[in-house]
Amino acid sequence: MNTSDVKYIEYGSIDSTNSEARRLIQSGELKPPAVLTAKAQTAGRGRQGRSFYSPADTGIYMSVVTELPKDANDIQLLTVRVSLAVYDAIYDVTGIKTGIKWVNDLYVESKKVCGILAETLYCAAIDKVAAIIGIGINISTKDFPNELSDKAGSLGISGDNIDVLKVDLAQKTAEYVLNMEMKYHDAHGLIETYKSRSIVIGKRISYEKNGAPIEGTAVGIDETGALIVKIKDGFDYLQSGEISLKNW
Ligand code: BTN
Repeated sequence: MNTSDVKYIEYGSIDSTNSEARRLIQSGELKPPAVLTAKAQTAGRGRQGRSFYSPADTGIYMSVVTELPKDANDIQLLTVRVSLAVYDAIYDVTGIKTGIKWVNDLYVESKKVCGILAETLYCAAIDKVAAIIGIGINISTKDFPNELSDKAGSLGISGDNIDVLKVDLAQKTAEYVLNMEMKYHDAHGLIETYKSRSIVIGKRISYEKNGAPIEGTAVGIDETGALIVKIKDGFDYLQSGEISLKNW
């Protein structure tokens, strides 16, 4: 992708970069490719209707707006591609190896350091569906609210160079996500790489299905990005949703 085509918008504080991208697309003021970043969010959103804690200056809060690929299979693999792109950006800029918790949460030592919220909507300006890929990376956040303190963590980076690092990491993340179709083109290689970075394969997990709790062992990821779970009487294939690890 030609980087000069990308529109960059920076905010001091905003409710949510994903919500703002949605509003701007709906009003016809924004079309892909675009990147919105904020120093702080007052109503950061996470998956499953949760909020995303986004205090000022301690993390990266950004939305990358891109056209959805035409191929339906690729749409299912979007979240897999995004998690690899963000993993690579974090590793290339900081040297920190994260682990991917299916579908696309990034962890360091059993604490979530990055969440990804991918949303889609029709963009009249290009007569196509756009993806709004929201990415929140905790860089130096320490004082999480009580309900998050045993689950959320940060990359633990501090020091004089933190502002430069944040700019580098935001740029690299945007670049990798905007180019993810090319960078992670081969579907087979993509899944193999994803599996090698997964922290759930081989682990006991639990999840809910039709309101009932289920336990099983995560044994693989299929070519569509679904999590393959060995359960009591066979295999389950999870296309989306939330899983919990029984032990780390
Ligand atoms: C999750 O952990 O469930 C996903 C969190 C996604 C957070 C990012 S921060 C930037 C963008 N704006 C939002 O409101 N959410 C995403």
